[in-house]
Amino acid sequence: MQEAGRERDRAAAAADLGGVAASVRPTDTAAVSTKPAKRYPLALWIGILGLIMLVAVYIFSLSLKQNGMLFGLMQTNLIEKEREKPCHDPSIPDTEIPYLHYPMPNTYDRKECACTGVRFFAILSMQRSGSGWVETLLNSHPNISSNGEIFSVKERRSNITAITKTLDRLYNLDWYSSAAKNECTAAVGLKWMLNQGLMKHHQEIVEYFNRRGVSAIFLLRRNLLRRYVSILANAHDSAMKQLNGTHKAHVHSKHEAEILAQYKPTIDKKTLITELKRSDKLAADALVNFKNTRHVVLYYEDVVSNRTIAKEEAVQSTCENPHKTIVRSYR
Ligand SMILES: *[C@@H]1O[C@H](CO)[C@@H](O)[C@H](O)[C@H]1NC(C)=O
Ligand SMILES: *[C@@H]1O[C@H](CO)[C@@H](O)[C@H](O)[C@H]1NC(C)=O
Ligand SMILES: *[C@@H]1O[C@H](CO)[C@@H](O)[C@H](O)[C@H]1NC(C)=O
Ligand SMILES: *[C@@H]1O[C@H](CO)[C@@H](O)[C@H](O)[C@H]1NC(C)=O
Repeated sequence: MQEAGRERDRAAAAADLGGVAASVRPTDTAAVSTKPAKRYPLALWIGILGLIMLVAVYIFSLSLKQNGMLFGLMQTNLIEKEREKPCHDPSIPDTEIPYLHYPMPNTYDRKECACTGVRFFAILSMQRSGSGWVETLLNSHPNISSNGEIFSVKERRSNITAITKTLDRLYNLDWYSSAAKNECTAAVGLKWMLNQGLMKHHQEIVEYFNRRGVSAIFLLRRNLLRRYVSILANAHDSAMKQLNGTHKAHVHSKHEAEILAQYKPTIDKKTLITELKRSDKLAADALVNFKNTRHVVLYYEDVVSNRTIAKEEAVQSTCENPHKTIVRSYR
């Protein structure tokens, strides 16, 4: 009797659910006992339904997010393929494909240059190491565009987001500078000093270089004492402005050079060794930090004594033979 009462209560609760168990009459014990699944308490049902709904909503939101990501990826893949298809040159070896890019600038249409492959490079150097001169050499080629010390502006290197954004703009050929070319750009890059955020964010920058196929050109100076003298002389000129009241970090004539060379800096013997050791360590650390990138190491002294090195390693190999990289890689 007690049993039947409980059954009745359950059936009534089930009926409350919205007609699901409405056909079950409280007196029909046989029918009730054959369908025990329909007779859970209302609270349990609501709980289960709520849980199912929660899980469903969670799965839905997750799949939406993932689909969005998937869609984005598919889209970029498609764009990449579209871009590369009409330009694909079967004679380009597979190993070179990651280093040959076909950028689509936002600010203009590359038109007839669209299928001129572009190599990305970065001259990694230190102040007073001849990078201005080497950059001038590179820019003397009609298809090479080296855009100077872009990261001398602090905001552009204040965090890795800013650095990445700046590099993206440069390598997308949306960066305007006097280095812009009338001919089709076949190599684009910049001059980047080790103390311009390069060492601070080296992990992310190495990742960027490898992801986007950027070749690094280290330009270092063997004679660190001469470099130090040049730093002192440059600091002096920046204060004295010896060339008709203007400061020139790089001279452009023998005459200008002779005037600046008249200044003989005094070196503080106490700090000299520390100073030289510091810059030696900086260069060594940079080589270690960037060892996993595609890179080449040039020394200013070698480039000066044998210009064929600069020409061969950098200019000719980029443009006269498009299958070679901007520089020979010494990974
Ligand atoms: C990064 O630096 C830029 C420029 O200084 C600034 O506008 C931006 O808010 C910074 N972003 C982060 C995540 O710190
Ligand atoms: C340099 O640009 C010219 C035309 O602007 C183009 O025909 C030539 O292929 C380019 N050179 C290289 C090596 O891409
Ligand atoms: C300074 O200006 C004068 C006149 O314009 C010029 O003759 C002279 O060569 C300049 N000197 C330097 C160091 O540039
Ligand atoms: C200059 O460098 C090139 C390329 O590395 C080399 O072939 C040539 O022999 C060098 N010339 C001299 C004079 O050292």
